[in-house]
Amino acid sequence: MKVLALCGSLRSQSLSAALLRAAKSLAPAGVDFQIFGGHGQLPLFNPELEPCPPAPVVALRDAVTAADAIVIASPEYAHGVTGTIKNTLDWLVGHIPFAYKPVAVFNPAHQSYHADEALKEILRTMSADLISDACVRIPVIGSGVNPGDIAATTMFSSAIRSALQAIVAHVKAQGLPREA
Ligand SMILES: Cc1cc2nc3c(=O)[nH]c(=O)nc-3n(C[C@H](O)[C@H](O)[C@H](O)COP(=O)(O)O)c2cc1C
Repeated sequence: MKVLALCGSLRSQSLSAALLRAAKSLAPAGVDFQIFGGHGQLPLFNPELEPCPPAPVVALRDAVTAADAIVIASPEYAHGVTGTIKNTLDWLVGHIPFAYKPVAVFNPAHQSYHADEALKEILRTMSADLISDACVRIPVIGSGVNPGDIAATTMFSSAIRSALQAIVAHVKAQGLPREA
């Protein structure tokens, strides 16, 4: 089962990215958890580029096509979604394989809810299949836990494991994952 993780922060010390790395390290057997590394290479979305999409966009779309499910972790900026995650998703609006793709949103902050709601509204508008049991708040931001210690912190690791299990169960309920 292939799970693709998208991150809404480009910061080298991003806690959202650290949360996704922790999820990768905790992924159950049989789950190939890949974190998309090209957010910073995506140009700002321009529909006029659609006929010949730039290479980073093709890489994003290929990764989405291959994925059985997507996980998103993104911080809130000024009560909204970050430009990074919005730009990434804008490049996927016209990408047919994104529609009906199972998606889990990991909210990485205990106090952020504007961006979480806005992100889910965007995803619903894009016809994503939001996995309710896997859309969870895992508040690493503001916790004081070092980015490298998230997977070893029980309250985070248990929430991450549960969310990953919910993703696996959801994909399996939809039918067998595609062949690797
Ligand atoms: C420009 C900017 C705006 C922010 N706005 C909010 C906000 O509206 N609500 C909030 O809870 N945190 C806000 N924050 C705090 C971020 O959630 C925090 O810096 C977080 O660690 C960023 O995520 P990252 O660690 O994944 O980069 C903001 C941070 C920045 C840099």
